[in-house]
Amino acid sequence: MISPTKKLKKLPPYLFEAINILKNDAYARKQDVIDLGMGNPDMPTPGHIIETFCDTVVNHPNTHRYPQAKGMLKFRKAVADWYRKRYEVELNPESEVLALVGSKEGIAHMSMAYLDPGDYALVPNPSYLVHKNGVIMAGGEVYDMPLTEDNGYLPGLEAIPWRIAKKAKLMFISYPNNPTTAVVKDLSFFKKVVAFAKKHDIIVCHDFAYSDVVFDKYKSPSFMEVPGAKEVGLEFHSFSKTYCMAGWRLGFVVGNAEILKPLEKLKSYLDFGIFTAIQLAGVKALNSSQECVDEINAEYKRRRDKFIKDLGKLGWEIEPPSATMYLWARLPEGFRHMTSLEFCELLILKTGIAMAPGVAFGSYGEGYVRMALVTHYNRFHDAALRLKKFLGDERK
Ligand SMILES: Cc1ncc(COP(=O)(O)O)c(C=O)c1O
Repeated sequence: MISPTKKLKKLPPYLFEAINILKNDAYARKQDVIDLGMGNPDMPTPGHIIETFCDTVVNHPNTHRYPQAKGMLKFRKAVADWYRKRYEVELNPESEVLALVGSKEGIAHMSMAYLDPGDYALVPNPSYLVHKNGVIMAGGEVYDMPLTEDNGYLPGLEAIPWRIAKKAKLMFISYPNNPTTAVVKDLSFFKKVVAFAKKHDIIVCHDFAYSDVVFDKYKSPSFMEVPGAKEVGLEFHSFSKTYCMAGWRLGFVVGNAEILKPLEKLKSYLDFGIFTAIQLAGVKALNSSQECVDEINAEYKRRRDKFIKDLGKLGWEIEPPSATMYLWARLPEGFRHMTSLEFCELLILKTGIAMAPGVAFGSYGEGYVRMALVTHYNRFHDAALRLKKFLGDERK
């Protein structure tokens, strides 16, 4: 048997798999599963975006040909206009914007474009898995930057040893944050990151996938708003969450033109970009009224408030997040002797509710669970009833 690469073997075990197996067992038993596990938006893509896609496919057959790999100019211009309007950031659509097959693709390829074996990347722990796994797949070395309640889920840059900082080529950060739901209140943390990156000559990759999943008048700042950010870094965006387009696979990255070039070069050998009809649907999304985004967020907020209130009544207190469609919670009292994986396994077995164990996102996520608010409002009522019984029966 021919073995796959050592890099692939080095990838940490996919801990969602344990939950997925139990979830599938529950489905097989015809148990009614409430899936709060994966961050997979359940609401449909807004109608005007779908209409643009359908119209393009039917009426513009020239779009059925290979697309332009880096993204069509119309798409890149729409992104640049959106940045100007939103953040007063100027981007050259020719050289400072690149279309992605979803932001995950771009983030993973960024590591492959920049890391040789032995090169370091600074990665938050816990984090969205591809931040770390992209580095491992590239043969690079991961240096963990712990995100904890005590540090407000912001990495302590001063704790990074000088010898590591000197060897690091990339740094990943992401606010609003998955899985911790942490946000930055203003630009002060990003300013420190820019200074750090300049001092040690590091490329900063800001994953801004949740830029628009925000509540209670919170406005998430762009890393690109910081003076000097464009000299040191990139910002990755996704249509998946903002417009419920996860299955469409559309994203983009913006920032320093020289830093983008190797990523564009690598991609040009691997993919042909995104189906033009999907890019045009993306242009429609960016150029239209953003009322649909407010509606999507209002629904997440309704679910957030309902579930937090119900869980609070059960003695499981959770701070309402100002962004992302997740709740990040310590294991409830009476269960803290368990690991987060043990808790999630027991929970799905006994109740049919799937949650993501915090440790699946990194060792510093241990002791926590992540709940994705991606099912119908009424299901949160059912979930709370089941949790009431579960917590009563199983609490130690
Ligand atoms: C922080 C973060 N970045 C990126 C992604 C991937 O998004 P996309 O669908 O654009 O690949 C996700 C998806 O869950 C995410 O949570």
